Amino acid sequence: MCGIVGYVGNDEKAVEIILDGLSKLEYRGYDSAGIAVVENGEIFLEKKSGKLENLVNSLKEKDVFSNVGIGHTRWATHGNPTDRNAHPHCSNDGKVAVVHNGIIENYSVLKDELIKKGYIFNSDTDTEVVSQLFSELYTGDLIETMFKVKERIRGSYALGIIHKDYPNKIICARKESPLIIGIGENKKFIASDVPAILKYTRDVIFLDNGEVALIEEDKVTVLDKNKNIVNKEITKIEWDMDQATKNGYPHFMLKEIEEQPQMIEKTLSAYIDVEGHINFGKAFDNIDFNKFNEIHIIACGTAYHAGLQGEFFFKKINGLRTNVDIASEFRYNDPFLDEKSLVIFLSQSGETLDTLMALKLAKSKGATTIAITNVLGSTISREADVVIYTLAGVEISVASTKAYTTQVVTMYLISLYLAYRNKKITEEELQKYLDDVYKLPENVGNILLQKEKISNIAKNIYKKDRGFYLGRGIDDKTAKEGSLKMKEISYIHTEAFPAGELKHGPIALIEEGTMVVVVSTQDSMVEKVASNIKEVRARGAYVISVTKETHKEVIDVSDEVIIVNNNGMLLTPVLSVVPLQLLAYYTAVHKGLDVDKPRNLAKSVTVE
Ligand code: M6R
Repeated sequence: MCGIVGYVGNDEKAVEIILDGLSKLEYRGYDSAGIAVVENGEIFLEKKSGKLENLVNSLKEKDVFSNVGIGHTRWATHGNPTDRNAHPHCSNDGKVAVVHNGIIENYSVLKDELIKKGYIFNSDTDTEVVSQLFSELYTGDLIETMFKVKERIRGSYALGIIHKDYPNKIICARKESPLIIGIGENKKFIASDVPAILKYTRDVIFLDNGEVALIEEDKVTVLDKNKNIVNKEITKIEWDMDQATKNGYPHFMLKEIEEQPQMIEKTLSAYIDVEGHINFGKAFDNIDFNKFNEIHIIACGTAYHAGLQGEFFFKKINGLRTNVDIASEFRYNDPFLDEKSLVIFLSQSGETLDTLMALKLAKSKGATTIAITNVLGSTISREADVVIYTLAGVEISVASTKAYTTQVVTMYLISLYLAYRNKKITEEELQKYLDDVYKLPENVGNILLQKEKISNIAKNIYKKDRGFYLGRGIDDKTAKEGSLKMKEISYIHTEAFPAGELKHGPIALIEEGTMVVVVSTQDSMVEKVASNIKEVRARGAYVISVTKETHKEVIDVSDEVIIVNNNGMLLTPVLSVVPLQLLAYYTAVHKGLDVDKPRNLAKSVTVE
């Protein structure tokens, strides 16, 4: 949520490099974009509401060259998405410029205090207090001033600050919101995420909570919260830039949907060894799995829906009581947690603040925590006792797809690993369960072959303004994910219900032409699902079913049918979500919407 880029180097390329970096971070927010550099001893500032291209266009006529600067792409929290609320924010004396990701929770108290001192505020943001406060507390030393500012501000932040008196330095600080430092030869970078700087360097420092860093072209000085200099490890980023480009696809979302067979395959080869055993390296060496009497799975959005699939694995394969909670609710539900609780946190980005706060709570209660995340070095991956990475590759599109399927597969493998290690399943049973997972890449590939058909179905629904998604049991969970996909990128208001629940109220909304998407992969429920379809069709619904070819009862009563192969009771849902991703994608395409950057959303949600 909000993207930050900063550059200091031995050339005058700050504007070019920052704009390029921002273009890789737009998925974090696209309400406005702005840049501040030091040019001829003064701060040059340009900021525009709307997408980055507005800023790029407004800079075209202006030849601005500088060796140091900061840039920002915004997801609005405090104040409308206007030019005046766009970052960077400057101090009244024009000496300080600030970019910020996070929320300064005590901003109004600080603002009142600064107004009394004569400061004039030019925006409605929380961030502007940081620029004014930095100027107010300025001692002539950037590090010292940053620590003074940190003492006064509360909340979450990744901050990048330049001062006109230091045309060769950036001072930054982090608490909760992510910030990385890129190390190049005679050039250094700051960014919210790796793609912003990967074109220039693979050597990265992950700043930790409470740390402050002074960035200069030939040196980086990092201090911990006690002002001691820390020697930070430099991590080499192994993945390539083409993972962060569209590679000929019209949208990242389609590319990412189509990458699913490959990414599932990658996950399997990473975690299943040549002898056919699940192997997470040393990750679980220090964990006594016998002590757990319950599992909690905590996540938000699509990751939460993946967690709902995981619940079925841990209950069926491990026989363990399993609860799945939305992270933002979990903390306030007085959860029963102790050292016998195993809590699994799912997060593509590894930065979702709701999930991070739930993780901190679980740790404070003595629970063992496992993070399943897709981003190396992300905050959640570093806070949890154990981290298992999904190997989905970089996911850029705001609508999560390949992260979901790899999260489900990873949970399946963890569930099998745990059951085998605790002797709840035999070698033979393990291999039987694994036979199902091996089939997934090919079966997902077969669904992708139906994309033209799904695009044609989407032509029948893209003008609708609402609809329902139905399923029973594990299919109900898939339906929930399908509905979220449709809502977030096509803006069609859809709701998912257990198919049997519809008659208890929502069926009142079914009328001639209402779109109803049904998921049916569970053999034990096919007749009941077919009855539920008949109930809505009798009231005029237009029914699209995602089902197996053996579910004749469902096929016979549906208007449109998308067939998925049988992949076992637990894993067929990994297949049935794929047509739902494609249906949402093509619906948004036919509506002419910006698929990868749906309105009001951001890829990484770092506010509560
Ligand atoms: O990075 P995370 O997996 O923690 O993100 C959680 C949700 O914000 C995310 O899944 C969101 O719901 C997506 N836009 C769904 O496509």
